[in-house]
Amino acid sequence: MTRIGIVAEQEGETRVAATPATTTKLLGLGYEVVVERGAGERSAFPDTAYAEAGATLVDGDEAWASPIVFKVDAPTQAEIDRLSDGATVIGLMSPALRPDLREALSTRGITALAMDAVPRISRAQSLDVLSSMANIAGYRAVVEAAHEFGRFFTGQVTAAGKVPPAKVLVAGAGVAGLAAIGAASSMGAIVRATDPRPEVADQVRSIGGEYLPIEVEEQMVSSDGYAKATSEAYDARAAEVYSEQAADVDIVITTAQIPGRAAPRLLTAADVASMKSGSVIVDMAASSGGNVEGSVAGEKIVTDNGVIILGYTDLAGRLPAQASQLYGTNLVNLMKLLTPGKDGQLVIDFDDIVQRSVTIVRDGAETWPPPPVQVSASPAAAPVEAAAPPAPKRTMSKGAKLGLGVLAAAALFVIAAVAPAPLPQHFTVLALSIVVGFYVIGKVAHALHTPLMSVTNAISGIIVVGAMLQLTNDNLLVQILAGIAVLLASINIFGGFAVTRRMLRMFSKGDQR
Ligand code: NAI
Repeated sequence: MTRIGIVAEQEGETRVAATPATTTKLLGLGYEVVVERGAGERSAFPDTAYAEAGATLVDGDEAWASPIVFKVDAPTQAEIDRLSDGATVIGLMSPALRPDLREALSTRGITALAMDAVPRISRAQSLDVLSSMANIAGYRAVVEAAHEFGRFFTGQVTAAGKVPPAKVLVAGAGVAGLAAIGAASSMGAIVRATDPRPEVADQVRSIGGEYLPIEVEEQMVSSDGYAKATSEAYDARAAEVYSEQAADVDIVITTAQIPGRAAPRLLTAADVASMKSGSVIVDMAASSGGNVEGSVAGEKIVTDNGVIILGYTDLAGRLPAQASQLYGTNLVNLMKLLTPGKDGQLVIDFDDIVQRSVTIVRDGAETWPPPPVQVSASPAAAPVEAAAPPAPKRTMSKGAKLGLGVLAAAALFVIAAVAPAPLPQHFTVLALSIVVGFYVIGKVAHALHTPLMSVTNAISGIIVVGAMLQLTNDNLLVQILAGIAVLLASINIFGGFAVTRRMLRMFSKGDQR
């Protein structure tokens, strides 16, 4: 049974690498867990809660001497010195940016696993710390913005006057951006979002946002789940959109990033200067150069025209209990992968791309960088022809449209004149239903189309009534047809509701916390 040590983090880090709940799961994998006294204090997990979960409370030296050490932030040199020979240390290490750390860890048979090097592939989603933290950070960015903004997010009609809803622009609809869109729209704001990957449009809409397309000819396709640099044409058109939006919206949250590069500059000083006084910008990419001119990493800036720019870099850590819970769960999922026998024995399999990618040092030898990972589920690259300029859209001239309308009206009159009496009546009902149906369905969010369909299916229940009346008909053939009609109409109604029920269950929170 190998021992895992949960150590206290440095000053300024509010998170902890295991919570009482994740401790229980680690014990279930056959490990022994020791926790440094006070390690969970800043995330509101008292020592007693760890003890109740089955961990042993120890002092710092004993926790650091464990064969496996769990951390949040990268270990400092002093902390590396506290590790025992041959130990495994797991935490966030920014391996690409920290050759010094990789070198410092390549000693005394140490193994280092970087949680922030998990490849972005479906199979590894449950251990993807960057996503789980970005999700929390996106939510918190909205909370910070709302805290600084001197008005409601939601529109209201009160006895003291009408309040318009706040307008929020989210730039970059990745993990953090989608979390921000969801949080802001659930608070009642009007939310708009941009992203060079057009495939995110439906995701934006499904959580209540409006996708602002930046229309240029090239389309961005990602092969590894991350964005690539945008073209000059895209940037030029995007700059126009940001200038228009800056003058209109109250809150801007920027999350644009391209791995391995400085953050793209989206909002210029002129855009910021055009914003209303009291508007708030949260630049989530402030630590990698910033998406907004004038943002400062870790700081709150108020511009001359009264715009607040937040460059906080610790947004996930501002929800420490939640962040520790998700980070701890990511670690448990990694340990499940590394403990195939559930016997408290850690085994690293280099044939598995996930395990290979996170291992930056093995037994004292540097193993960074890992081989590149291709996402099998990435959208297929656009065919070569698609790169050619799009064919001009075929639009009908006004005159042709008018002519067609007159022709249709004339045809209608002729039909009405010669057809038997009920036909024009049925035809009018059909035309009206098409118009009403078009507008009703068009105004319903995509996510609600399935429930809408099942309700309209239920309306078709009237067929069952008609068919049942025919069941007593004297003609055997009519009876058989009526029986089939009852059966099919019932499948239509009950099947529709069954599908809706299944779909709604996907959204139900149940008793999960
Ligand atoms: P992600 O890779 O999932 O999303 C980034 C998005 O930006 C992608 O959808 C990409 O298509 C988009 N993008 C790329 N270039 C763009 C451009 N020119 N214009 C508009 N969108 C563009 O990344 P994730 O995980 O959502 O992180 C987003 C940002 O938040 C990163 O900069 C990350 O470092 C930061 N972050 C900040 C935290 C904080 O405390 N401030 C905490 C966690 C993440």
